[in-house]
Amino acid sequence: MAKRLFRRPAPVPFPRSDEKGRPGPLGARAGLIFWVYDWGMPEPSPTSPSLRRDRSVATPAPAVRGTFLLATCQGGAEASLVSRQEAILPEVSKAAWRRGVVTFRLGNFDPPDDFFPDLIYARTVIRSLGQVAGASDPERIASMRTLVTHTEWDTIHVWHRDPRLAAQTDSPVDSLAVRGALLDAYGLPASLPPAARPGDLVLDCVIDAADRWWVGWHRAGTVTSCQPGGMHPNELPSDKASRAWLKLDEAIATFGVDLRPGQRAVELGASPGGACQRLLEAGLTVVGIDPALVDDRVAGHPNFEQWRMRARDVKLKNFRGFDWIVADMNIDPRSTLESIGRIVTAAGVKPAGIIATLKLPDWSRAAELPGWLDQFREWGFAPRARQVSTGGREVCVVALKSRRK
Ligand SMILES: C[S@@+](CC[C@H](N)C(=O)[O-])C[C@H]1O[C@@H](n2cnc3c(N)ncnc32)[C@H](O)[C@@H]1O
Repeated sequence: MAKRLFRRPAPVPFPRSDEKGRPGPLGARAGLIFWVYDWGMPEPSPTSPSLRRDRSVATPAPAVRGTFLLATCQGGAEASLVSRQEAILPEVSKAAWRRGVVTFRLGNFDPPDDFFPDLIYARTVIRSLGQVAGASDPERIASMRTLVTHTEWDTIHVWHRDPRLAAQTDSPVDSLAVRGALLDAYGLPASLPPAARPGDLVLDCVIDAADRWWVGWHRAGTVTSCQPGGMHPNELPSDKASRAWLKLDEAIATFGVDLRPGQRAVELGASPGGACQRLLEAGLTVVGIDPALVDDRVAGHPNFEQWRMRARDVKLKNFRGFDWIVADMNIDPRSTLESIGRIVTAAGVKPAGIIATLKLPDWSRAAELPGWLDQFREWGFAPRARQVSTGGREVCVVALKSRRK
């Protein structure tokens, strides 16, 4: 049990710079974090965040650690999140929940600072310290400073409990303005970038309602726990064929999918083509299978070919030589699995990995996910699943070959 509880997620790759070109850590060893500045980066000024304090020593966690975990998820996924918690983390028990947020009572269980259990539906998981309320930001910040006596933080994340709800409100709370006020109150530079770096001690402010915030903390570690609310930081660029570009972009970042230029990928359910576009941008040669037409920007790419038919109508021998099987069909998950299974169990077909979107017709179907993941294992792949923040009511599975066929 202890092994399962304290299992760490896959190690976070430490890039020399992140996707926005900011400097990143070269490595982290036994609590020591070293930072490097990439070529072309502006020289750090003496007041730049990374020089603000001695980064060779981790900022100590608060003495008052909090007795609840707070997990955030897509609105509607709360019950699926709790089912997953009951399966892998029975030591904690569900406490309060609201759309987009579930809290869990820790009892005697005191997880490590960077605890990030594999809750699949959780975008991020923090330690909750409680709620503050007040008529204005200054009032809430004053309450927060009474509640949170710990004063040394590396950064502050401010995020909405339910981003979609926030967008629909008549007077949405401006999380950037709240963050600015909090950075000021805690003596942190206004220039701190939104994302934390692995190892950062993060003060979390979850905007629950216009007059109420949830307050907590975590130590950033995984790709997602570095982002406010675990949300993918990239927007959909206007030149992309579909939102699937962004979903795949997030899956690649979250799972650290090692796509290599020159590899071959085939996508089942490729139209209008955003995911194929993302694969092409990674330098892969791509075949898109779909009866529907693919966007011209993708169709005209020299490394792209479309097979205009249903996946089941493609001769199995044609799937030989692909490194990646990608599936994003708007059909029942069992039919998606049937299509993938037919391919990956065929003679001579030896992909290194599968990236599959399993669409949930309704949330109750999430209960079937463990069985679906077993199918990947039966085919000889090691699946990892996550509901990515840019997707809809669906789960993304990345499964790498675990043994030779
Ligand atoms: C969500 S869209 C895919 C989006 C796409 N991945 C992208 O990047 O833009 C679902 C697609 O699955 C296709 N589809 C559904 N059943 C299919 C099947 N049996 N074989 C191939 N494509 C299928 C539909 O035609 C539809 O275009």
